[in-house]
Amino acid sequence: MDTQIIKIDPENLGRSAELAASFIKRGEIVAIPTETVYGLAANAYDDAAVRRIFEVKGRPQDNPLIVHISDYVMLGNIAHTITDEAAALARAFWPGPLTMVFPKTEAISDIVSCGLDTVAVRMPSNPVAAEVIKRAELPIAAPSANLSGRPSTTSARHVITDLDGKIPLILDGGESAIGVESTVLSMTGDVPVILRPGIISLEEIREIAPNAELSPSVFKEPPRGEKVESPGMKYKHYAPNAEVVVIKSTLAKFVKYVRGQKGENLYAMCFEGEQEDIPIPSVAYGIKKDGRSQAKRLFNVLRTLDDCGAEKIYVRAPLDTGESAAVFNRLLRAAGFNILEL
Ligand code: TXA
Ligand code: MG
Repeated sequence: MDTQIIKIDPENLGRSAELAASFIKRGEIVAIPTETVYGLAANAYDDAAVRRIFEVKGRPQDNPLIVHISDYVMLGNIAHTITDEAAALARAFWPGPLTMVFPKTEAISDIVSCGLDTVAVRMPSNPVAAEVIKRAELPIAAPSANLSGRPSTTSARHVITDLDGKIPLILDGGESAIGVESTVLSMTGDVPVILRPGIISLEEIREIAPNAELSPSVFKEPPRGEKVESPGMKYKHYAPNAEVVVIKSTLAKFVKYVRGQKGENLYAMCFEGEQEDIPIPSVAYGIKKDGRSQAKRLFNVLRTLDDCGAEKIYVRAPLDTGESAAVFNRLLRAAGFNILEL
């Protein structure tokens, strides 16, 4: 199949969103930009279309999808038991990069939820995504638009690399503003629990929901074969072809360590201003204490290093708090939990 790519500008936004919505309404899946990463969008009520998402991505059958909405009527149609606290979180963070997990209604099939009795919901703020959902007048199931296991896509070019010829349409909305996926927050237990950290940090969520917690599995290798709260936690994720090693240390120890490594095509990922100290080819993936800058570049840098033929990538570990928590979580998974403390 030919993949059509439309570069979005203010003048063609309405028309392009209408086209994407018409594809979705007739059961096709299309790639759309969101503020976090690109999404692979299908009608959440169309089981055949949702099955195609799993096929196209090569996604494991037990990893449920996030359903994207453009208004609160859609929320009521797909989820129930929306607590006052959830409503307050929605007022604070929607539209935006927060996904909340609620008990699902009958409208959401087992194909979307992978047999769970819950549904993950998000109202995106990206104007293209919002317009597509509004015009489709349907909740949209959309995982990140990458092949399963690969780094998420933060530009139309990344989507082409992974999915060219497999989908009919990509809306090119430029580089993703945030660069890592939404914060996934379970609202089904006694207290809200972050299942996947994102740019909306635990600290920010606690301003609205003081009892919110971070799931222990966010920074921990999931025990093999055991049940996890969010099925996405158990797979190696976001991984480039290269082997990734995350190193928690000072810059001086990092430099000493990589200097001692032997092998071909070794690369480093460091912070701005550190490159000249590092004795192997390196790419800066953001500013040391600025998680937002790291999030924005992370997946792009991982993909760029693949293009360079990197075989091993040594990464300066970001902080595990605030906005960097999301970056640390993705890097740990990209590394298959290969982390060194020096
Ligand atoms: O920012 C994002 O969230 C992007 C954009 C496209 O919106 N989407 C995204 O989708 O990252 P995906 O499929 O790559 O990740 C969805 C995550 C997975 O970790 C999955 O396990 C979790 O959400 N999830 C989905 N439904 C769930 C549920 N009912 N309970 C717990 N976790 C759920
Ligand atoms: Mg994903």
